[in-house]
Amino acid sequence: MKLFIDTANTEEIREAASWGVLSGVTTNPSLIAKEGKEFKSVVKEITEIADASPSNIASISAEVLSDDAEGMIAEAHELVKIHDVITIKVPMTEEGIKAVSILSKEGIKTNVTLIFSPNQALLAARAGASYVSPFVGRMDDIANDGAGLVAEIAEIFEIFGIETEIIAASIRTPKDVTECAKAGADIATIPYAVLKKMFRHPLTDKGIQQFKDDWAKVY
Ligand code: E4P
Repeated sequence: MKLFIDTANTEEIREAASWGVLSGVTTNPSLIAKEGKEFKSVVKEITEIADASPSNIASISAEVLSDDAEGMIAEAHELVKIHDVITIKVPMTEEGIKAVSILSKEGIKTNVTLIFSPNQALLAARAGASYVSPFVGRMDDIANDGAGLVAEIAEIFEIFGIETEIIAASIRTPKDVTECAKAGADIATIPYAVLKKMFRHPLTDKGIQQFKDDWAKVY
């Protein structure tokens, strides 16, 4: 499973990209608004960080805000001018799917967001989406099974040889990451705080201290 970071904060992206483990970045309107900067300038800055980092970042999702397919496509055409790694994030609606089917024929990468059922994922895939984003944490929030949804989508895509990649989104904990990997997600898009937690294990910290203490006793 590949690792994306789910943030529009450029400092977080710069640090995580410096580890060399990132394959992509996802943003959404809420994450962009949190930064309080102009949308396209933030996206451009993220592409510059990606280009300068040791990570192999092949996808940066930027979301469109129009309600109709025509508006979404016009926004997409402007966004893809920023960099060729830009992936157009489109909401799971009839108009969104219509936009995806046109953009995919134009060779523009798309990520259908706000997926909460296997049928929504199937519709997005058949429109030619590059990615579908099931929202794991938001499913769990309403006492559903987020990782179970990822597993169902992965099973259907496997049966029919569908190449659309599954991005497990709305990740809240390191355990979500493990569960989504086991469920067959191609990618997990992970908030910075959760990525940091993935490094940690108390026995690793204890072991490092023990090595240092033993060394110091002799040398
Ligand atoms: C990513 O594509 C989504 O925008 C994001 O993961 C949503 O996460 P949230 O449910 O924590 O807002």
